[in-house]
Amino acid sequence: MSLITCEDLAFAYDGVTVLRHLTFKIEQGDYLCILGENGAGKSTLMKGLLGLKKPSAGTVTFGEDLRAREIGYLPQQTPVQKDFPASVREVVLSGCLSGMGMRPFYGKEEKERADRNMKALEITDLKDRCYRDLSGGQQQRVLLARALCATGKVILLDEPVAGLDPLVTINMYRLIERINKEMGITVIMVSHDMQAATKYASHILHLGEDRQLFFGTCEDYRHTAAYHSFMDGEKAVHIWKKAAGKDKKPRAANPEPETKEEEQKKEVQQ
Ligand SMILES: Nc1ncnc2c1ncn2[C@@H]1O[C@H](COP(=O)(O)OP(=O)(O)OP(=O)(O)O)[C@@H](O)[C@H]1O
Ligand SMILES: [Mg+2]
Repeated sequence: MSLITCEDLAFAYDGVTVLRHLTFKIEQGDYLCILGENGAGKSTLMKGLLGLKKPSAGTVTFGEDLRAREIGYLPQQTPVQKDFPASVREVVLSGCLSGMGMRPFYGKEEKERADRNMKALEITDLKDRCYRDLSGGQQQRVLLARALCATGKVILLDEPVAGLDPLVTINMYRLIERINKEMGITVIMVSHDMQAATKYASHILHLGEDRQLFFGTCEDYRHTAAYHSFMDGEKAVHIWKKAAGKDKKPRAANPEPETKEEEQKKEVQQ
């Protein structure tokens, strides 16, 4: 049985359908990237998978040993959330709440889990800092550690790199890759970044025109009209930048990257 199965799923707000006919499966260990324009329904689908939004039609079925409350979630960020007045450790620990039932305090097991995830994401030295004083990249790492506290199985990430600079973005993608490959956690990530999606994900779900335009492997996705029309859009931006002289980089004394940081920057530009 698949980890998550969606069959002819639809979602509506106030009787207006925003997504319909979604049919796809997610297997243990997959890395699924959900693509689509603003308003395509990506966040709505994430909430549907979490049980926070009821489908107007169709079904979401979980594999035998998975429950919605065992899914880690990094929500799409809003300015209010970025201003949250709690310590990093408190924010990470709050990821354990869903598994605690009615118990009103954190036990040894939850504290150890939070410490383990902060260590894995290299944020232990930030643990007593106030969350709202951190940089955007540090905040996203904290939220990733929080999501990991809720699960050993699946994490849902809604635009985890939105607003991050290219270097921090690539580090974030590498962390997510490690979580998937080394920790064996299934990743479902919403993104607007087609390049990264096709580089890191195993599967793609492309939403548009209130339905799914594609679901399948990354390999198959590269042969679709949805992929090519998006890539043509990317090319158009590149041609516009070239015409406007915005693609020029300052000439470097030594064009070869010397440090790891420069190497990463070069990777981002490719
Ligand atoms: N609470 C709500 N009440 C009414 N309509 C909503 C609500 N939330 C979302 N919608 C509508 O549902 C559609 C899908 O929204 P959703 O936020 O899921 O899109 P998205 O793909 O995540 O967009 P973005 O890329 O901008 O985050 C949009 O038309 C949006 O206006
Ligand atoms: Mg969204």
